Amino acid sequence: MSDKLNIIGISGSLRKKSFNKMLLDELFDSASGNWNSEIGDISEIPLYNADVEANGIPESVINLGTKISKADGLIIVTPEYNYSIPGVLKNTIDWLSRIKNAPLKNKPVGILGASMSLTGTVRSQSHLRLVAVQTEMLIMNKPDVYVAQAQNKFDEEGKLTDEKTKSVINKFADSFTIWVNKIK
Ligand SMILES: Cc1cc2nc3c(=O)[nH]c(=O)nc-3n(C[C@H](O)[C@H](O)[C@H](O)COP(=O)(O)O)c2cc1C
Repeated sequence: MSDKLNIIGISGSLRKKSFNKMLLDELFDSASGNWNSEIGDISEIPLYNADVEANGIPESVINLGTKISKADGLIIVTPEYNYSIPGVLKNTIDWLSRIKNAPLKNKPVGILGASMSLTGTVRSQSHLRLVAVQTEMLIMNKPDVYVAQAQNKFDEEGKLTDEKTKSVINKFADSFTIWVNKIK
């Protein structure tokens, strides 16, 4: 039996070369001694529509919700789009909030973000924290990880090259392990 925590991660960016996906990979690498990690797919989740819901919650939403329910913790990495979280991420959270057993409720959650501007997702993460209140996620407050000017911090292979950011990510990984164990 492994004592490792089961952690699922979702990214608010769908693009292949997303800095946020690179950040999630970096975090999972950094925590590999303590976590079994898995990336949750949000790319197949349809736009929320109450008429669709009336015929049953889509399989892609149920599958993701089941994985989140089973996981010890959830990591959300998010870009910033027009000072807020991307529609695909909000849409995913909206759908998840409609599942009866409420997979997000009381789930330990860690959030991080990377963007190309100098402010590095400060605004989108604060919006995400507001959404987390209504969905009753148990968000870890600190440390914050805002990766600003992400285009200068990853190499061609998608590896993080910035030493300061690496050390913040290591600290985040350790803190999240403690946070999840405290809530468990
Ligand atoms: C629709 C749109 C809106 C954006 N708005 C912001 C913004 O408000 N703040 C910001 O820092 N970056 C903004 N950006 C730039 C993103 O930081 C950049 O595209 C980033 O690489 C997205 O993350 P990703 O690499 O994980 O896809 C925006 C990009 C798009 C496509």
